[in-house]
Amino acid sequence: MDNIINKTDNSLRGKRALITGITGQDGSYLAEFLISQGYQVHGIIRRTSIFNTDRIDHLYQDPHQSNLPLYLHYGDLTDGTGLRRILQRVEPDEVYNLAAQSHVKVSFEQPEYTADTVAMGTLRLLEALRDYMEVAGKQVRMYQAASSEMFGASPPPQNESTPFYPRSPYAVSKVAAYWYAKNYREAYGMFVASGILFNHESPRRGETFVTRKISRAATRIKMGLQDRLYLGNLDAKRDWGFAGDYVKAMWLMLQQDEPEDFVICTGESHSVREFLEECFSYLDLRWQDYVSIDQRYFRPSEVDYLQGDASRAREKLGWSPQVNFKELVKMMVDHDFDLARQEKILQDAGHYKGIRGIAYG
Ligand code: NAP
Ligand code: GDD
Repeated sequence: MDNIINKTDNSLRGKRALITGITGQDGSYLAEFLISQGYQVHGIIRRTSIFNTDRIDHLYQDPHQSNLPLYLHYGDLTDGTGLRRILQRVEPDEVYNLAAQSHVKVSFEQPEYTADTVAMGTLRLLEALRDYMEVAGKQVRMYQAASSEMFGASPPPQNESTPFYPRSPYAVSKVAAYWYAKNYREAYGMFVASGILFNHESPRRGETFVTRKISRAATRIKMGLQDRLYLGNLDAKRDWGFAGDYVKAMWLMLQQDEPEDFVICTGESHSVREFLEECFSYLDLRWQDYVSIDQRYFRPSEVDYLQGDASRAREKLGWSPQVNFKELVKMMVDHDFDLARQEKILQDAGHYKGIRGIAYG
């Protein structure tokens, strides 16, 4: 279930997609999906001092081989010149803008950088794309990764008509990016569609987001590798779906006759406490015996309750989620239990280095 590659549709062979944020959770599932649809996929990666391609390594082949389905280009949303060069080199038919400083809590600590990547980064890409389309004389379709965080304090259920009420520098930046996208659609006739996606998770979710933090901790506790789990607000409610389902909606949005914005969600909401309960009880543990509250994980302003209404996506895109809450939790716990088992083997053999950075999120 973790890998979503399915049958190839040969009619799409030869289409080229460019993905920003290909090394992230969604980027990796989207790359898999587009390759399975016959696309040639190009991704933008950042230069880092250690490898950041874990999530796409299984898709990447030695560049000396021919007919590669996946090409990687160094770039950054803060570097407009580089984005222009990549567009010219790749000559894409579709661009998926997934790159972002995507952690809400971190955005309170790095608001300027978050605005630079999330808001300004989107603007840079739109400008580069506008100029590229004019020079190349072709229409390129763009997907913009918008977020349910934009609804913030607006009460549920949230749909495409719900007013935005952002509650973090990240959310404010996503609202700006959303409006840039809409403005470029109206001003220049560009095909830009924003997907307002509610939280979506997977075994590839970053380990500082709450679901993965919990599934990693619960399985490590079960294996005797960890004693306690420190969390913040357990009352927050989220509409959690599976990332593999959601990337298909991104693609569907770019296959429509007209560009439009869509809410993508399950329509079901659960609290962080309920996620804990589901995870720990699946492992025959009582979460109350292991969880402590730490103020550092609370946000200066919180989004209390997200529950979406994806009626428009169901009607117009024919999209609906395939994985429910229980199945999602099971998928993540099963995956992380395997990781914990591997860690235990290393520990028993005296080769264990300790877990990385969980305390940061
Ligand atoms: P993620 O796992 O955090 O991945 C973010 C990606 O953006 C990574 O590939 C990261 O590269 C890249 N990136 C960060 N800063 C960049 C920069 N300055 N220039 C170029 N690339 C940069 O996020 P995700 O969960 O896949 O989410 C994908 C997108 O959807 C994001 O825009 C997010 O805000 C949005 N979104 C996510 C959700 C959700 O629940 N997952 C819901 C709604 C919207 P590194 O690997 O090098 O860090
Ligand atoms: N990360 C984290 N760590 N969150 C915690 C913790 C903790 O220790 N304890 C409680 N929470 C609560 C947060 O306060 C929040 O209310 C909820 O768990 C979910 O937090 P995250 O998993 O960090 O996700 P998010 O909802 O803030 O943001 C994610 O979803 C957005 C879509 O609504 C990110 O993926 C964003 O990029 C995305 O736009």
